[in-house]
Amino acid sequence: MAHIPNAAGRPSWRASVLTLFPEMFPGPLGFSLVGQALQAELWSLALHQIRDFGIGRHRAVDDTPAGGGAGMVMRADVLAAAIDEARSQNPDLPLLYMSPRGAPFTQDKARALSQGPGVMLLAGRFEGIDERVIEARGITEVSIGDYVLSGGELAAMTLLDACVRLIPGVLGAEESLAHESFEGGLLEYPQYTKPREWEGRSTPDVLMSGDHKKIAEWRRGQSERITRERRPDLLRSKSDG
Ligand code: ADE
Repeated sequence: MAHIPNAAGRPSWRASVLTLFPEMFPGPLGFSLVGQALQAELWSLALHQIRDFGIGRHRAVDDTPAGGGAGMVMRADVLAAAIDEARSQNPDLPLLYMSPRGAPFTQDKARALSQGPGVMLLAGRFEGIDERVIEARGITEVSIGDYVLSGGELAAMTLLDACVRLIPGVLGAEESLAHESFEGGLLEYPQYTKPREWEGRSTPDVLMSGDHKKIAEWRRGQSERITRERRPDLLRSKSDG
């Protein structure tokens, strides 16, 4: 499928979401930077209601787990029909299933996705989805963290927010991307603004010195200290890779 150029003359980054709750979208993605980018057609959002592919008069999308146990499982046949329909419209997009069982979503993955044509996300509910549809449709599972949400929609929105802000032209100053957390494998240094004195606390003198080399060195040192204190695992993975 050809990319549709947007007002800026670039092909639009495409998000496609399969969900039982399309009304939740764009939700937070309709606000601020990411919302303005949606309006400006720097990215697009297609929503697919899984229930449209449900079985019978009640449009059932789930059933009891084989082997017994609590909760309900989303049916492979229903999901496959929804996926096949969504894919017929965007056959080139990678398909990710939002799941606490997935590989961790990271800034590197957000960057890689933002540089591609877009992403298709499956947001599940209930206890999970039939394993066979994961295998049969080549679905990659992605987690946004080690906790369990009541559905994949918030996880999908989180992933999309992280990707969309990295699309060229979305963030005004590309400069501000260069220094933020995880870029360069470190957490961000502390920031200060006016007033210079507040409740007996001063802005560090070095930041008022006008010496850009010294300021850069101080910031680097602070980034390293904060990363060492809070996320030593990031320093280890940096030296590994
Ligand atoms: N769905 C439920 N919990 C999730 C998580 N932690 N990450 C991604 N999708 C989810």
